[in-house]
Amino acid sequence: MDNRPIGVFDSGLGGLTMVKKLIELLPSEDIVYLGDTGRVPYGSRSVETITKYAKQDAAFLVEQDIKAIVVACNTVCSVAVNELTAAFDVPIYEVIKTPAKVAAQTTKNRKIGIIGTSATIRSGAYKSALAEISTEFEVYMEACPLFVPLVEEGWADAENEVAIKATERYLRNIKQEGIDTLILGCTHYPLLIDIISRFMGENVKLIDSGAETASVVARDLHQKKMLNEAKSNGKIKYFVTDSITGFSERASLFLCSDIGESATQISLE
Ligand code: DGL
Repeated sequence: MDNRPIGVFDSGLGGLTMVKKLIELLPSEDIVYLGDTGRVPYGSRSVETITKYAKQDAAFLVEQDIKAIVVACNTVCSVAVNELTAAFDVPIYEVIKTPAKVAAQTTKNRKIGIIGTSATIRSGAYKSALAEISTEFEVYMEACPLFVPLVEEGWADAENEVAIKATERYLRNIKQEGIDTLILGCTHYPLLIDIISRFMGENVKLIDSGAETASVVARDLHQKKMLNEAKSNGKIKYFVTDSITGFSERASLFLCSDIGESATQISLE
């Protein structure tokens, strides 16, 4: 038994897609969430900058006495997860291997699409993860750099014209290739799921990287006997690096519960 909280971080709102799933699977766990909203997006930055930010994020969570870190950011996992594992002496969960495995099990025609931030796509991390499973997949990738800012801006609802146009533009080529499985390789993208699934059509299965990985985190903590055995609901603390106003509003909408006063603005520099 380990009653310390689970630490989760992302550049902004996206990691909440994973928090939502963790709350569902592990309702008794306390969670400390850090969204680096003052520096989002990470995906258009250099490997050096992303690594520096990721280390600062992880160091902040370690100060909160967490029992494990969930890196709810594909961008960080693509370029800096080894640095984090080397620098911090706590279990660290990444969000790339599991969705790659799920995609490999899901596809029937072996044509898999991957969308993510520019840094994630450039890193080739998903392609390598799929190649480790089988060399027979045809992999089609597309960076979608406007998706994260759209989500952070709250422009992600099913009828948002800008998000619809951006989706058509980014996913056009991948769709033409006839993929049957699409990895949403960024934890922000499930917030655009209505638009993405409408455009791709019902024959394309969408894989949510954060939600799939949350199940693995839950199983692993259980196996390692690291779960909080309290019977009451866990407490969630939110930390952000920019104003809490917009974040609290959008997070409450997304999580379907008012996070009210529980967000705190901090500085990582
Ligand atoms: N949610 C992050 C990811 O999964 C977004 C990164 C960004 O800020 O660009 O990649």
